[in-house]
Amino acid sequence: MDIASYKERVEKIHDELETSNDMTGWINYPLMDHEELFNSIEKLKDEICMEADVFVVIGIGGSFLGARAVQEALTPYFGVLEKGTEVIYVGHHMSGSYLQQLIHYLEGKEIYINVISKSGSTMETTLAFRVLRLYMEKRYGEEAAERIIVTTDPEKGILKAIADEEGYKRFAVPPDIGGRYSVFTPVGLLPIAVAGIDIRSFMDGAKNAALELKNADLTQNHAYQYAVIRNKLYNEGYCVELLASFEPSLKKFHEWWMQLFGESEGKEKKGLFPACVTYSTDLHAIGQFIQEGSPILFETLLHFNQIEGDYIIPYDPRNEEGLNYLAGRSFNEINATSKQGTALAHAEGGVPVIQLEMEKLDAYHLGYLMYFFMKACAMSAKLIEVNPFDQPGVEAYKRKMLELLKKK
Ligand code: PA5
Repeated sequence: MDIASYKERVEKIHDELETSNDMTGWINYPLMDHEELFNSIEKLKDEICMEADVFVVIGIGGSFLGARAVQEALTPYFGVLEKGTEVIYVGHHMSGSYLQQLIHYLEGKEIYINVISKSGSTMETTLAFRVLRLYMEKRYGEEAAERIIVTTDPEKGILKAIADEEGYKRFAVPPDIGGRYSVFTPVGLLPIAVAGIDIRSFMDGAKNAALELKNADLTQNHAYQYAVIRNKLYNEGYCVELLASFEPSLKKFHEWWMQLFGESEGKEKKGLFPACVTYSTDLHAIGQFIQEGSPILFETLLHFNQIEGDYIIPYDPRNEEGLNYLAGRSFNEINATSKQGTALAHAEGGVPVIQLEMEKLDAYHLGYLMYFFMKACAMSAKLIEVNPFDQPGVEAYKRKMLELLKKK
């Protein structure tokens, strides 16, 4: 695909992003010295892992999706990492049933809670915090204050006021970093650390991405290449980008990616609709549509070459299903082959396919990849001339809901 014609536009937007002070704090954040912050997060993590069975994170949107994505991608499918503690999320919906079951689940377990909200006033978060705070006070009395951590704006908001008043530990969300760009700040780092993941390695990945992608040259900058290809496809009439990966532990990562692009680009009647699938599961669900349905989408295949853990297909002398030709080969090898087959079949079916390949599914590469997507997203939004860092449309449902609640 010829992308050279974008050279000048990309360079101009790159300069705008690099010199702007408008919510662009995330661009250089991984390059700064955070030694003190890392030490305090690691110290608190050790305390939590020693004292608690469960760490409850209360937040919504950019205030929880990044941490949950990294946690699910890098902790075992069954159980928790030896170095970590169980992390549970709440406050990201209004389900009373979920909350009731959570409170029941917490009975008899030792708990710490971390409420995360930059504004300090998001209803889902503050309602869940009200419930959990009262629960902690009932369980721990005065000691509750030692077990409640607040991550919020360093200067303003009701959560900051509560934290100061009650003496809760407090972490700052940098004012010039918006929710969906905040995974590398304490918003993401504390829950990720408590889950037992190496935050220094995660941040090293982000730092290297920040260095490598600080390059205005389209022929060198992979994030900008990805942004430009998406833009070309969008202009050709494709209106859905389907992110597909081959490891079920990436499902929550998909949700982070979907919010990043959806909330950054979908405004002023513009933007690609971000959708996600996990293969090969979804090849048996939505695969038919992708192969032969309305030609509205292009696909971005995300593949990690090395995944922790594998299983060798055993030999079975009965061989009723005729699968002995696969004996001795690994599931991960077959999974990788299914990716190649899918790319070929979908391309033949007329679906444009972008392939993103990462070396390994670990903290370092996930840090790199998340920064890569953030940089690509900012460039993509600017290419369609929308502001990547606001979300005015999110207010609409809140206004209607509040009107209805107040009427009743
Ligand atoms: O990306 C964003 O800015 C949003 O998704 C917010 O993170 C989300 O609305 C939660 O906001 P807050 O952290 O203020 O509770």
